[in-house]
Amino acid sequence: MKNAKSGKFKGTLAFLVLLAFLAVGIQTAFGENGENGGGGEGGDDSTHKAGQDCMASGCHPSTGGEKPFTVGGTVYMDPDGLAKLTGATVKIVDANKKTITLASDSIGNIYQRTKYGTITYPYTVSVSYQGREVKMLTLAQHGSCNAVNCHITGRVGRVFVGTNDLPLTGTVTEAASGGTSTEISYTNDIKKIFSAKCNVCHKPGGARSVSPLTTYAYATASNLVTPGLDTSLMIRKLTQSLGIGTMWPYLNNQADFQKISDWIVKYNAQEFSTGQTSTSGAVVSRATVELWQSGRKMYSANTNARGSFTIKKVKAGSYTVKAAKKGYQAYTQDYQMNQSNVSSLDIQLSK
Ligand code: HEC
Repeated sequence: MKNAKSGKFKGTLAFLVLLAFLAVGIQTAFGENGENGGGGEGGDDSTHKAGQDCMASGCHPSTGGEKPFTVGGTVYMDPDGLAKLTGATVKIVDANKKTITLASDSIGNIYQRTKYGTITYPYTVSVSYQGREVKMLTLAQHGSCNAVNCHITGRVGRVFVGTNDLPLTGTVTEAASGGTSTEISYTNDIKKIFSAKCNVCHKPGGARSVSPLTTYAYATASNLVTPGLDTSLMIRKLTQSLGIGTMWPYLNNQADFQKISDWIVKYNAQEFSTGQTSTSGAVVSRATVELWQSGRKMYSANTNARGSFTIKKVKAGSYTVKAAKKGYQAYTQDYQMNQSNVSSLDIQLSK
């Protein structure tokens, strides 16, 4: 009897503690968001003017004005900004590695008032919604997402994440063989780094289409690479210390940096290693391709007779791709799945 009572008491206590936690959580969300939650469109003291440049002068610039913002924008479900998205989580990691989390409100707006915190520019942004996560690929240099030239319809599109998941397609082929494994070459080492981390922008039609890195010829264009020279633009752009304009955040791996640098300086930006003659080889049929997230297998597919595969309706997010087939070395790479402009995933397996 006594035991039963104390059990019930413990249960009630746990419930109250949980409630208190929830209350704190909710308060923090609103606290950080400034005056989010006021409801109503158009009023001066509540969330309003979705899609407009919140931080324009006369509104909420970062300094001056009546209610300065550190950041402000609007989240939609589609690139044209037709449907607002309520309840998305916007995660910002600023230049000092400080994380700020904001929730989009009843009309899709997110904002933080300077009196609730600071953000040191530039910063990275990701938006998540119901298990999907999209990342802004470039660093944000100021706080106003809806500023002219930024995320407005007709330019690069609205900030959006929706439930419209896209297919991921790709191919699996045999990696070039032959040559010594200690040598660094484009086909064996560099191509896969560019493909995983750079080509999303550096490709025809990408955000940096003037300097595609999708083929050997492009990747060694004379303005980017001078064989043997450590002052090559490619190396300079990848150094972490460059500050603004560095491509380091996309590479973000010292071993990869060393590889690219050695490839250019020590191996004269060679296409193949010594003795290696072929580019990539035959297609690999019936290979398995899997997408993993936080230690869990989320999707898988097999390649067909032509070495290609399709995974339908992949939720946006960061994945580890694993590909395998008996007789080949295990393969892994990182992959960011997007909700638009999804690039084909071309995997090469080595024997
Ligand atoms: C999110 C898009 C994006 C990604 C990803 C990206 N870049 Fe860039 N890259 C740019 C833009 C935009 C510029 C030009 C502006 C600048 O220099 O900051 C640029 C410039 C460059 C340049 C100088 C040539 C030029 O076009 O101005 C090199 C070299 C370069 N990137 C290499 C890389 C490498 C290597 C990677 C992968 C590790 C990479 N980039 C990833 C967008 C990107």
